[in-house]
Amino acid sequence: MSINQLVYLSQSTRKMSAEDLNEILRVAKENNQRLDVTGSLFYNGGWFLQVLEGPLDKINALYKKIERDPRHKNSRILYNEPAKFRTFTRWSMNMTNLDDRQADKYAQLVEVIDAAKTDRKIGAMSPAVSLLKIFKE
Ligand SMILES: Cc1cc2nc3c(=O)[nH]c(=O)nc-3n(C[C@H](O)[C@H](O)[C@H](O)COP(=O)(O)O)c2cc1C
Repeated sequence: MSINQLVYLSQSTRKMSAEDLNEILRVAKENNQRLDVTGSLFYNGGWFLQVLEGPLDKINALYKKIERDPRHKNSRILYNEPAKFRTFTRWSMNMTNLDDRQADKYAQLVEVIDAAKTDRKIGAMSPAVSLLKIFKE
């Protein structure tokens, strides 16, 4: 089945605690598994960056629901394209809190979020494409 990958950037409406993030992750994992959606969610200094991948209709409907969530605002789609393969095959959803500097790939991921915030490219690549590449490698 063909799949799409959607990447968006948004701002949290308040500072997220570890418990807040875990609660988002808990519900996301449960729902996404049912929808055949995989992906990853990154949080850094009040910004969310999320990758959703799965069947196009499922991804678009899920994004519409997530977008309305009052825990974040100003959501902006950076990327929504068909893909041959999933990048995050192992996770119905995964959370990386980049405010915790122990995070794997910390520097690269912070750079992606910074570039996305300011609409900057990283080399010749858009932030969303850079993000997907980090995890394909
Ligand atoms: C940044 C962010 C990312 C989210 N990601 C997901 C997600 O991947 N899947 C999901 O089902 N809900 C996600 N949610 C939660 C949804 O907005 C919504 O609260 C939830 O899907 C409602 O689930 P329910 O219909 O089972 O009550 C996210 C919320 C936020 C703030």
